[in-house]
Amino acid sequence: MAFLLLQWLFTWVVLGTAQGIRPAVPRLRLSYRELLKAGGAVPLVAVADATTIERLVVNEEGGWLIAGARDSIFLLNPNNINRKPVKLPWHPSHKQFEHCVLAGKDAKTECANFVRVVETINTTHMYVCGTGAYDPTCAFLDTRITTRAVTGPPSLVHFESGKGRCPYGPRQTLATVIAGRELYAATTSDFMAADPGLFRSMPGTHSRPSLRSEPQEASWLNEPQFVAAFEVPESLDPAEDKVYIFFSERAWGASGGEKHALYARVARVCKNDNGGQHSLVNKWTTFLKARLMCSVPGPDGVHTHFDLLRDVYILQTKDKHNPVFYGLFSMTRYHQETTSKICCCIT
Ligand SMILES: *[C@@H]1O[C@H](CO)[C@@H](O)[C@H](O)[C@H]1NC(C)=O
Repeated sequence: MAFLLLQWLFTWVVLGTAQGIRPAVPRLRLSYRELLKAGGAVPLVAVADATTIERLVVNEEGGWLIAGARDSIFLLNPNNINRKPVKLPWHPSHKQFEHCVLAGKDAKTECANFVRVVETINTTHMYVCGTGAYDPTCAFLDTRITTRAVTGPPSLVHFESGKGRCPYGPRQTLATVIAGRELYAATTSDFMAADPGLFRSMPGTHSRPSLRSEPQEASWLNEPQFVAAFEVPESLDPAEDKVYIFFSERAWGASGGEKHALYARVARVCKNDNGGQHSLVNKWTTFLKARLMCSVPGPDGVHTHFDLLRDVYILQTKDKHNPVFYGLFSMTRYHQETTSKICCCIT
């Protein structure tokens, strides 16, 4: 992979000035008030606890905008998010809540069911997972419900363990994608959030994840902060399809001043990976990772690196084997958070 900077942008601005054209300065900040004034934003007011939304996914077949929130899932009308939203309450069980409080977690801010995974399975069902008050739980969501059906049959069915699919708490990072009917989840899989990994499992089978990264192995993942995961077909042969995971992690094996450094990363696995033999049973055999270098040169030629990956957006192009990734990077958290963020194009 090669990583391009926004160098063309700088070049273009300089050229524009030289030719007497007023350079188009990109907007770096757009306030909420400005957005409202321009008619570019519609606040969600019909849902009282909209501030707890953890995940937002468009369900095209069902015609819903689905929001995973604290102790509930909202189904919104994508054309008018305030029109008759459907609320599906999904609280942790009494037992889950009690265990969570007994384990020392905060009853108000942690011992709830934060719905953090919302993925499309097929035309009628989504797969959803919540933290279940530190006992992650997944279920299928039937999207064929109507507003009337909320009082009718329950729309959440086939509950199963969310271990290796969803983190235990609301603040642990997570990246998921469904590829080939299987769920790829980059998450921590334990109460203490000490065991991060990339897991693959088949929703609805009640079984533990079938494949994972080496546990407690810092050279694979070292205190990762997961950002996003995507499936990318590499060629016409589906056997070559890959899943990419974007994250930041602590630089492993670095010494001196680099010890506390973070690196922005992309890792990939092959979809047809079935694990290896002996010590690699149920472990990825195709896991590879690379550093994402996003930096701008200073006047003295020294590069300022942006190593904390904040977000990644995939832009599909005509050639579905070659999408464009946009990444939002900032300085590491060891610098003040007031530093600027920069957008890099990853090809
Ligand atoms: C979608 O998946 C669910 C859960 O696996 C299954 O029950 C349902 O029959 C599937 N629907 C279609 C249309 O394939």
